Amino acid sequence: MSVSCVTGLLWGDEGKGKIIDLLAAEADFVVRYGGGHNAGHTLVVGGERVVLHLVPCGVRHPGVVNVVGNGVVVDPFHFVDELEGLARRGFEVELGRDLLLSERCHLILPLHQRLDQLAESLRAEGKIGTTGRGIGPAYADRANRTGLRLGDLLRPAQLEARLTALLQQKNPILESFGAEPVEFASLRDRLLDVGERLGSGIVDAGRVLRQAVAAGRRILLEGAQGVLLDVDHGTYPYVTSSSAAPGGIAAGTGLAPDRIHTLGVVKAYATRVGEGPFPTELAGALAERLREAGREFGSTTGRPRRCGWFDTVAARYAIEVSGATELVMTNLDVLSGFDPLPVCVAYQMDDGVVTEHFPAFDLEHATPVYESVPGFTGDLTGVRSFDDLPAKARSYVTTIEERVGRRVSVISVGPGRDQVIRR
Ligand code: IMP
Repeated sequence: MSVSCVTGLLWGDEGKGKIIDLLAAEADFVVRYGGGHNAGHTLVVGGERVVLHLVPCGVRHPGVVNVVGNGVVVDPFHFVDELEGLARRGFEVELGRDLLLSERCHLILPLHQRLDQLAESLRAEGKIGTTGRGIGPAYADRANRTGLRLGDLLRPAQLEARLTALLQQKNPILESFGAEPVEFASLRDRLLDVGERLGSGIVDAGRVLRQAVAAGRRILLEGAQGVLLDVDHGTYPYVTSSSAAPGGIAAGTGLAPDRIHTLGVVKAYATRVGEGPFPTELAGALAERLREAGREFGSTTGRPRRCGWFDTVAARYAIEVSGATELVMTNLDVLSGFDPLPVCVAYQMDDGVVTEHFPAFDLEHATPVYESVPGFTGDLTGVRSFDDLPAKARSYVTTIEERVGRRVSVISVGPGRDQVIRR
């Protein structure tokens, strides 16, 4: 099938970057459809870590066109910094050739970041733990029809009018919180400058993609975050503000809804950054040990990630919502030495009812029911074939496959691009 998607099944940070980089070798286009620079997709190139936030993960492959679809919210200043950072590391990405941005992408402006941080500081209880990047306020302006889009940067009169209207609405809000209002002229000038810098890459990306599909070109959609962070199907309100699950593809690219081959990525255990319910979360020394073993610190914010055991109830739900037909399991090597390995197979709700259905609405009232799987030992990072894995590692993978009803077709055993087992 010529259109495929890589999606995170739980709360993001599953290691999608490496998998997209791997699959991009067989793609013509790599396309982001949602989220913003809250995402952090890590590639390891020649032993060096490269973290991409907005630029799609196909940039290492000559001939691949990387597309930032209209569903992505773009901080244009951050975008330029990211391109410059890549150039310093020897990745020359040519706008208009290797990298296209949809003219319809909504902009994240510095005021959105301020509003995001203010909103968090005002939530006495129920903080979401956002990345503070302005994601929610930018999507709110999109829905409210007050947003600015990348195409506006190329139309000075339109930019002036829209920015004036936006500031008329936002400055009183900022001032009422004691924050500095935004100065119109300097922001307009900076936006016109950044528009000039990015101009050659700003196009009608939906049209490009539809033509590519019609011509049988291979499209790889790069999911950001994960199904459980989806604004509708995740653990609301502890979610991001976009349709992170593959349901967001048509709206976020301009491709017609169609059958897509979806690969769901899961870590061999579970992690979450930010607040919100996480039934299989570990505490204390075991959590610390897993965090250290997996180097579980956020690639965008550096925050320590919450760590826990694999949750087959959550994974099964995310498979249903995403349509994933096969799985990639990352970080299997990290679990070496942990024994036993509890796997969540059901939840007991506060009222005593045991369920195998994911209670997205009431997750804070769910306690995991575990099956204990024997742990394995040994260094897995050099293993390249499933048969060469320790028997107990194989049976950990097959237990999960049986529980979630999908085959794990790729297993990652280290951060390097070659550290994979393909089955
Ligand atoms: P926001 O997307 O910055 O508004 O943050 C909302 C929630 O999503 C917070 O819990 C974040 O930690 C989480 N989040 C956002 N982006 C990512 C990501 O790329 N990986 C993991 N968690 C994320």
